[in-house]
Amino acid sequence: MGYAIKTEGLTKTYKDKVAVDGLTLSVNEGELIALLGVNGAGKTTTVRMLTCLTNPTDGRAEILGHDVVREKEIVKSLVGVSPQETAVAENLTVRENLEFIAALYLPKDKIKAAVDRTINVFGLKEFGNKKAKLLSGGYKRKISIAMATIGGPKILFLDEPTLGLDVLARRQLWREIEALKKDTTIILTTHYMEEAQVLADRIVIMTEGKVRAVGTLEELEARTGKKGLEEVFVSVAEAEE
Ligand SMILES: Nc1ncnc2c1ncn2[C@@H]1O[C@H](COP(=O)(O)OP(=O)(O)OP(=O)(O)O)[C@@H](O)[C@H]1O
Ligand SMILES: [Mg+2]
Repeated sequence: MGYAIKTEGLTKTYKDKVAVDGLTLSVNEGELIALLGVNGAGKTTTVRMLTCLTNPTDGRAEILGHDVVREKEIVKSLVGVSPQETAVAENLTVRENLEFIAALYLPKDKIKAAVDRTINVFGLKEFGNKKAKLLSGGYKRKISIAMATIGGPKILFLDEPTLGLDVLARRQLWREIEALKKDTTIILTTHYMEEAQVLADRIVIMTEGKVRAVGTLEELEARTGKKGLEEVFVSVAEAEE
């Protein structure tokens, strides 16, 4: 079976800073991977390389068999990304934001249906005609994720999707992510261990640009002799300091 994502020695260096250092990883189609790591571990840089937002300085990466440097157009048509800094246009309405992104991916006659469906799925009906700048931070996050999914990506990257959300909004987003999981491969970065534990099929722990551990929660618990993801994470992350 082909991999959704396959990287080999993927590296990004900024001047004298190695942000991602020889990342080798394979992700199966339909998997949800939680990408964990302390601040500055290289998670966002990894997401940016895999979605053609920045070029690797070394190594390679393929999305469904397509190279992220040589086959950018194809890769871009396969991925959706909700960036860490939400990319919502403040002066556009919710509907206009969605239409803008849909137009990048879909033929003209499919845009309205896709926008209506997304507004429904994400429970945004009453906000459709509101300017994005009038919404709370949590709703902006929601719209950012809705925008990432509207083109029907095969692979979805969610960079800290639930940062700053209240408990109920987070739970609701979890349900929305669960629903997407059926036919989408998802890479989710988060600092919330509970979120990773609830949603992820496998967990990847990075520190200093390197992958330090990969596995299911059970595998990582067995390997570290710890119970629960938070204890596993602390033990893996501190071991490398
Ligand atoms: N454009 C850039 N120029 C220079 N250094 C950068 C740039 N982008 C990221 N870095 C550095 O690369 C390293 C990894 O950053 P990255 O944003 O990937 O981390 P992260 O794991 O997403 O962290 P966080 O949890 O805080 O979001 C950091 O040391 C960061 O300062
Ligand atoms: Mg980040």
